[in-house]
Amino acid sequence: MDRDWLDELLSKTDLVHVASKYVSLTKKGNSYWACCPFHHEKTPSFQINPDKQLYYCYGCHEGGNAITFVKKIESVESGDAIRILADAAHMTVPEFKKDKNSSDIKKKKERLSMLMRDAALHYHDNLRSPSAKIAQQYVKQRQIESMVTKFGIGFSLGRSEMLEFLKGKGYTYAEMKEAGIAEQSADSYYDVFMNRLIIPIINPYGSVVAFGGRLLEKDAKFAKYRNSTQTILFDKSKVLFSLNLVKKKKQRDGIDSIIITEGYMDTISLFKAGFENVVASMGTSLTLEQAKQLKNYTNKIYISYDGDGAGQKATLRGLDILESVGLNVRVVKLPEGLDPDDVIKNYGADGYKDLLSSAVTLTTFKIDTLASSYDFDDPDGKSKFAVEAIKIIKKLDNPVEQEEYIKHIHNLTGYSMAILMKQAELTYEEEIQTQNDTKTTDSLVAAEEFVLASLINEMPFADFAEDVFPHLTSEQAMLAYNLALEKYKNGYTLQSMFNRADGINEEYISKIVNYNFSISDDKKKFDECVSLIKRRSLENQKEKLATQYEQTKDFEILKKLNNVEKQLKQMKKNGGYYG
Ligand code: CTP
Ligand code: MN
Repeated sequence: MDRDWLDELLSKTDLVHVASKYVSLTKKGNSYWACCPFHHEKTPSFQINPDKQLYYCYGCHEGGNAITFVKKIESVESGDAIRILADAAHMTVPEFKKDKNSSDIKKKKERLSMLMRDAALHYHDNLRSPSAKIAQQYVKQRQIESMVTKFGIGFSLGRSEMLEFLKGKGYTYAEMKEAGIAEQSADSYYDVFMNRLIIPIINPYGSVVAFGGRLLEKDAKFAKYRNSTQTILFDKSKVLFSLNLVKKKKQRDGIDSIIITEGYMDTISLFKAGFENVVASMGTSLTLEQAKQLKNYTNKIYISYDGDGAGQKATLRGLDILESVGLNVRVVKLPEGLDPDDVIKNYGADGYKDLLSSAVTLTTFKIDTLASSYDFDDPDGKSKFAVEAIKIIKKLDNPVEQEEYIKHIHNLTGYSMAILMKQAELTYEEEIQTQNDTKTTDSLVAAEEFVLASLINEMPFADFAEDVFPHLTSEQAMLAYNLALEKYKNGYTLQSMFNRADGINEEYISKIVNYNFSISDDKKKFDECVSLIKRRSLENQKEKLATQYEQTKDFEILKKLNNVEKQLKQMKKNGGYYG
C-alpha cells in the first residue's frame, strides 16, 4: 500500500474520535484514559496520547495506532481496518481509485444492503402480524420467543407480500432478484422464502447479507431450509451465522472460545441457554476463510456438530482446516442422534457445560471415530484398528503427545504399550506412501494453477476450447476460470482482475495473475496439464460412481460409470494420458 496515502489517512484520522466509539474516555491533563477494551479491568489503565495519536495500556501492554486499534477491536485484518478508517475519513482506498467499475460495485452493494435491511425489518415486523399465527406458534413450540428480537427472526407472509413492500420502498424486481429474495417464474416474481420462518444472517459489521428460511411444517416437496443464493453481499463460504453477536459479546465481556454448531437452531438455542460465544457453519464444511476469521476472535474452538454420522464426517473435514491456522480445537461429543438444541432441551445448560468440559482433542476424536468403525470382538478388527490408529498418531510431531495417545489406544484395545510402540516404529514405509500421495495432489494443484494462470494472462498457447472447467478441483479455481473467460470476452485488463475477483480469495487470484511463467512454457505443457486435470477428475468420478453403484445397483449410476470409463479410454487412445 502507498505510504503517502497511508500517511494521509492517519493524518485525517483522530484516534481519540475512533476509540470513543468503543470506550468511554476521560481527559486527564494532556491525555485520555479509559478502561482497556482489550482486557478486563475496573480502573482505567488504557491511555491515548492525542499528540502522538498512539494508545497504550499499562495493564495488558497493548499499544499501537488507529489502524492496530481498529484491527484489534473489530477483529479484522489490516486491510479491512484500513477500509473502515478510510470510509470514516471519506477517502478511497487506492487499489480501487482508478477503477470506475469498483465504485459502481460499491454503490450497488450499498443499495442492496439497504434493501436487505429493509426486508429484514419487514419480515421481523410480519412475525407479529395477526396473519402470522402459525409462525408465532412455531416460535413458541421451539421455545425461542425470547430470541426473536435478539436474532431478528421474522416471517414471510407468502408469495408476494415482501415484494410489494419492497416495491413500495422504491426497489425494482431486478434488485430484489440480485439480493436473492425474488425469483421469476413464468411472468411473475415471487418471494423465495414464502411462508418460511426467516433467520437473517448478519455480518460482523451489522449488515444483513442473507436469509435462512425454515419450513414451518415438514413437507417432502420442499427442503427444510432455503438459504439466500450467492450474491454480491453473500458468499456462504466466508460467512458464519451469528458471528455478529459473538463480536458484541467479545467487545462487551471478552470470550475465551467459540463454539461452532451446524445449524441456526442449535446456535439460537445455545445462545438462549447462555452460551453467547456460538456460531453456525450452516451445514457445510468449514473453509479456510472462515477459519482465519475465527482466529481473529479467539484461539480456542469447540466443535459441536450433531451426534450423527454425517455430523461427524463434516467434523473431521473442518477440523484440519481450523488447526491449520493455529486454532486449538476441541470436539464436543454429543449423544448419538442428538443435536446441541436437543441436548439443551433434554439436559439443560449444565448438561451442555459438562459436555464442553469433557470435549476431546482432534486426535482423540479421530481415534475414537475410527474405533467405532471396527468390531473389537473380532480380533482381526481390533488389530486393524490399532494399526490405523497408530498411523494417525504418527502424524504428530511431539513424541510426548504421541505416547499419550498410544496410552489411549492401549486403553481401548488392551494391547500392551510395548507392542503398540513397536507398531509405531513399523509404519515408516506407509508414511513414505502418504507423502507420495500428497505429492500427487501437489502436482494436480500446480497443473491447475498453470492452466488458470495461462488463461487469465492470455498466453499464446492457452486455449479455452479445452473444456477443463467441469474438472477443476475447487470452487476457487472455477471462479478464477470464469473470471479469465470474462476477461477474454470483454477485454478487461489484468489489473482489474483484483477488483472483479468477487468471491475469490485474494491470495489465490494474486498467485494466478502474477504467475511466474518460464520461457520453456508452451502448448505441450498446457495440454499436458489439462489432460492431467481431466484424467484425475474422471478417475475420481469413476471411483465415486463405482462405490455408489456397488451400494445402490442403480442402473442410472451404471450408465454414468460407463460413460466416464469411455472418456478415460478415449483420453488414453488420444495419447492425452500424462501425469
Ligand atoms: N441446511 C440447509 N439446507 C437444508 C438443511 C440444512 O441449508 N435443506 C443448513 C442450515 O443452515 C441448518 C444446518 O444446515 O441450520 C443444519 O441442518 P439441520 O441440523 O437439519 O437443521 P437445524 O438447524 O438443527 O434445524 P432444526 O432444529 O429446525 O431441524
Ligand atoms: Mn440439527
